[in-house]
Amino acid sequence: MTWNRKHLLDIESLSPEEIMVVLDTAKAFKAVGERAIKKVPALRGKTVVNLFIEPSTRTRISFELAALRLTADVINFTAEASSLKKGETLKDTARNLEALNADIMIIRHSATGAPHFLSRFLKGSVVNAGDGAHEHPTQALLDTFTIREKKGRIEGLNVTILGDILYSRVARSNIWALTKLGAKVTLCGPSTLVPKIFEKMGCRVTHNVEEAIADADIINLLRIQHERQRKTMFPSIGEYTSLYGLNKDRMTRVKPDAIIMHPGPINRGVEIDSEIADSGRSVILEQVTNGLAVRMAVLFLVAGGKGPQEIGA
Ligand code: CP
Repeated sequence: MTWNRKHLLDIESLSPEEIMVVLDTAKAFKAVGERAIKKVPALRGKTVVNLFIEPSTRTRISFELAALRLTADVINFTAEASSLKKGETLKDTARNLEALNADIMIIRHSATGAPHFLSRFLKGSVVNAGDGAHEHPTQALLDTFTIREKKGRIEGLNVTILGDILYSRVARSNIWALTKLGAKVTLCGPSTLVPKIFEKMGCRVTHNVEEAIADADIINLLRIQHERQRKTMFPSIGEYTSLYGLNKDRMTRVKPDAIIMHPGPINRGVEIDSEIADSGRSVILEQVTNGLAVRMAVLFLVAGGKGPQEIGA
């Protein structure tokens, strides 16, 4: 199987084999990152634009570093200091950036479908870095990469995603990736944030946290996405934490080899106890490290790379 897509817009439309090409390519790039000289010339002469219209720390910086490691030129677009503030449209902004010879546009936007929209008229590649509550494909790919690295497989694993599922693009992309690769996915949180409709995506839905964590090989915690909630979804943060937060007491009831994940940013003391976040059971910072290799793989593939066989690791 080789990669043949110009864009990475979502996980939903990828086949399991395409997901595996990304993961295997990322593995080869991770090996490159362990060499003394970490840079490769794969994107020499190409220009990558980070078009982030929503805040980001991990995704924006790791895409920037990934592009630099591939020897691309990188432009970081800052929405607050741009002509978007003067009423310029997203389409005109993107077309002007393309007129400056942007080859790959990485976009984060609050609107679902913004990357798909750009892909319809830009000549270059578009990579979705998070669109509203819809998808965050590179987060799911780096999460899946981390699970495979830690557990040696994806198929047959019990993965619990705990928290605000309704407003989470990370949850949706993870559900697509994990179910396509044969994991059993359980979703848990308050009924207002984890409606039963998610069962249609092939997941188990429960509102009982003890049941959700008991047989989990992986517990992936999500923060409450206040920025996307239009009304109050639960009585108080304190009540959420006592009913659904991962604390020391609940950790005594999880499998001894279960690992704890979180896409970040974490809200310490809300969805996760600080001590657990910083413990040896947490792979949160390894997820960030793996995000670099995964984003190198994605940029390499959308720029015309075919797969890991082209990387001399
Ligand atoms: N996980 C994630 O998308 O983090 P940022 O918002 O900091 O990019």
